[in-house]
Parts: sequence; C-alpha cells; structure tokens
Amino acid sequence: MGKIARPVVAVDFCYEMLRHGAIQWENGSKKAKYIVPICGDGEYLPLHDLKFQGITIAFGVRNLSRPEQGLKEMLRVLKTGGKLAILEFSRPKNPLFSPIYKLYLHKFLPFMAGIISGDKEAYRYLADSIQGFYEPEILAAMMRDVGFREVRYRPLTIGIVTLYTGRK
Ligand SMILES: C[S@@+](CC[C@H](N)C(=O)[O-])C[C@H]1O[C@@H](n2cnc3c(N)ncnc32)[C@H](O)[C@@H]1O
Repeated sequence: MGKIARPVVAVDFCYEMLRHGAIQWENGSKKAKYIVPICGDGEYLPLHDLKFQGITIAFGVRNLSRPEQGLKEMLRVLKTGGKLAILEFSRPKNPLFSPIYKLYLHKFLPFMAGIISGDKEAYRYLADSIQGFYEPEILAAMMRDVGFREVRYRPLTIGIVTLYTGRK
C-alpha cells in the first residue's frame, strides 16, 4: 500500500509572500498539491490544537513582534511528541570572523543590495534585526519556558545562523 502524503500548511500574514511561494511550488514540485497556504498571523495561528507532527520556521521568529507568543502558538498546534525546528540568523562569536561579518552585514550588504535592488533600507532593517535579536541561549530558554522539551541548538556556517529544535 502506498504512503498517504500529509498536507503541509504554510502560514504567513503577507499574501504576496504566499503567492510567490505558491508560484514556486507549482513550477517546481509535484508535491505542491499537498501544500496548503494560509494567510494568518503566527502569533494567533488560525489552526486547531494538537494537529501537527512537525513545524519548521526559517527566518521568521526574528520578525515576530512577540516571539514568545509565536512559540506558544506553535506548541499549541503541535501534537504531543511533535517537533519544532527553527532556523534563524545569529551573530558569529569567532573573534576573527565576527568583525568581518559585522562589516559585511552593516556596510557591504546594504550598499551592494541597495544598488542591485534599489532598496537599501530593507537590508538595513535585516542587519538591525539580526543585531537586535536574542542570543541563541536566550531563544532556547524561551522555548523551554513556554513548554518545549529536549531543546537543542547548534550554530551553522560559523554561527551566521542557528538551528534550534524542541519537542512537545
Ligand atoms: C524573512 S521572511 C522569511 C520567509 C521564508 N521563511 C523564507 O525563508 O524565505 C519573514 C516572513 O515572516 C512573515 N511574518 C512576520 N511576522 C509574521 C506574523 N506575525 N505572522 C505571520 N507571518 C509573519 C513575513 O510576512 C515574511 O514573509
């Protein structure tokens, strides 16, 4: 008997982001029919309790105005035993690499991306939001505080991003 594909629900409160994603799914994947885009707020997920086996969020937690509330919502909709994986920017700690990365993030990237995209401010926002975001141990503690267990995190690419996992 063949495996039954489980639907993937994709949530964003920006309709244009979902539309952009939907175009990519339809062009690139036969599995697109299993992706259900929902325009909704990550801090008040329009989803029932205890429904999902897994949740992933990439470069999204940093953008929530109340990350703790978003984590509570993710916990609510996960089934018991379900897993959360968060990928988010972080700041490299290596004393040699850190100043080079800061220069890249705050000066080079907004300058070059501004020339290419015409939107320097978007890249300034990106740099500021990375600079102002929690240290990995603080986000991991927040995950534990809202009720996730087996919380782990590990830096990737010299600490430019960090992968966090936790279980309900
Ligand atoms: C940097 S983008 C990341 C998008 C995608 N995960 C990726 O890696 O390309 C952050 C996204 O979070 C969405 N976002 C921010 N706050 C949100 C919220 N409270 N509820 C739902 N989506 C939110 C934004 O609309 C934006 O599309």
